[in-house]
Amino acid sequence: RKPISLPRLAEMHQRGEKITMLTAYDATFAAVADAAGVECLLVGDSLGMVCQGLHNTVGVSLETMRYHTESVVRGLQRTQATAWVIADLPFGSYHEGREQALRSAAVLMQAGAHMVKLEGGGWTSEIVQFLVDRGIPVCAHLGLTPQTVHALGGYRVQGKSDAAASTLRQHAHALQDAGATMVVLEMVPAPLAAELTKALTHCATIGIGAGKDTAGQVLVLHDMLGINLGKMPRFVRNFMDSASSVRGAMEAYVRAVKDGSFPDNSQHAW
Ligand code: KIV
Ligand code: NA
Repeated sequence: RKPISLPRLAEMHQRGEKITMLTAYDATFAAVADAAGVECLLVGDSLGMVCQGLHNTVGVSLETMRYHTESVVRGLQRTQATAWVIADLPFGSYHEGREQALRSAAVLMQAGAHMVKLEGGGWTSEIVQFLVDRGIPVCAHLGLTPQTVHALGGYRVQGKSDAAASTLRQHAHALQDAGATMVVLEMVPAPLAAELTKALTHCATIGIGAGKDTAGQVLVLHDMLGINLGKMPRFVRNFMDSASSVRGAMEAYVRAVKDGSFPDNSQHAW
């Protein structure tokens, strides 16, 4: 197997092959997910909830993201793994502007990440362009952006009204123009996610609670293994239900995303 690269991901996107992504926070789970065929591993700031017991992602620090990114990358190196590693820039680490964002992204890239992810649209476009121009691949994140949960008023579907949908469209196109090669669409109505997936020819949409027609799917690892401290989001499927091992559950997830059987209509968030 060859390591997953940006050109390889672009090729999958162009061919319409679904891209699979799971979160990973440590060496062992990262290696198992890679062995199960998951192409992209996201060191998500959801680790604040999953690993640190926080109520939301706002309290996660850049130092914590560096620690988990290093752990994931070591696990992959020890097993000659091929997964593409994306690390979340945490709340406050890019909000001051592009220089601060570059310094923060450099910490995660030096920890071994291949790509960084940041939340929001509009004000983030110039930051994305600044990072991409300096050789840092960027994944954007629109729709429900958990770092702004207090401003959004809770974890609810985004882009439902015509005005919100039109803003989301504008943000997505601006992020693609700025050079983002992936965008997570979280809790966005499926028709809007499908429309954006067609419209964004150079930026692969990765859905979570956004229906089946995105270029790829992502889930929080612990959610799809059925070990969730809070209440299970409606769009999640517990892949341990019909698996006899963690690796088997991950393989079932990869199969289901690839053949389009996950998500189905019972897994929508809107
Ligand atoms: O932190 C995370 O797990 C994420 C995914 C839900 C996309 O950002
Ligand atoms: Na995140």
